[in-house]
Amino acid sequence: MIQIQNVTKSYNGEKVLKGIDLTFSDKEFVSIMGASGSGKSTLLSIIGGFLRPDDGNVLWEGQNPFDFTDDALAGKRRSYMGFVFQSFKLISTLTAKDNIMLPVTLSKKINNETLEYFDFLTTELEIKPFLNKYPGQLSGGQCQRVAIARALCYKPSVVILDEPTGALDSVMEVKVMELLKRVNKEQKTTIIQVTHSEKVSCYGDRIIRLKDGLIVK
Ligand SMILES: Nc1ncnc2c1ncn2[C@@H]1O[C@H](COP(=O)(O)OP(=O)(O)OP(=O)(O)O)[C@@H](O)[C@H]1O
Ligand SMILES: [Mg+2]
Repeated sequence: MIQIQNVTKSYNGEKVLKGIDLTFSDKEFVSIMGASGSGKSTLLSIIGGFLRPDDGNVLWEGQNPFDFTDDALAGKRRSYMGFVFQSFKLISTLTAKDNIMLPVTLSKKINNETLEYFDFLTTELEIKPFLNKYPGQLSGGQCQRVAIARALCYKPSVVILDEPTGALDSVMEVKVMELLKRVNKEQKTTIIQVTHSEKVSCYGDRIIRLKDGLIVK
């Protein structure tokens, strides 16, 4: 379970999040929507432990990620949370394959099961033709699929995705959403996604809307 308690965040004196309370239960699939600039990516960065809120608490299974040392947080996040950034944040000096495998490699968890799952993900997301290319040689949609595979490959408890289908065509969008639904149902993975698409949001069990720094009902 992830809890967000009375979280506020300002940039240069301008309040973007004005007191957010949210609970994400285990096995939930939640969609977050809101206008451009409403603070969705800011909220996801705070939930992911990448950005410290000005006030309020973030709790992962009761633990505050901002209490961890940097190394402990990185280690905990690898097994607990997969994160797909709006800007993908692939490592430019690694191939698509090595980017996807990075969380597994760093955790020294390369075994038959992870290799089979890598094979499954790269087949489902149609990544195989460009596994040996570097991010700079890939299209936006190809980078997005690599980022999604990287977030899923370690089978984390929670997957957070910032506009996961923003760079994809409609056929691939459906494939990605069906894959996320399957991961949610079969592995009981908690999924939190931000999207601008009503259609994509409907894959979630619950839709949260952000407006003027607050959750609207
Ligand atoms: N690092 C930063 N420094 C200063 N202002 C920022 C920073 N990051 C975000 N902002 C501002 O905070 C507000 C919310 O940004 P955020 O990226 O969270 O919005 P968003 O809802 O994800 O938008 P989009 O749908 O366009 O991705 C915007 O007004 C943005 O300009
Ligand atoms: Mg955003």
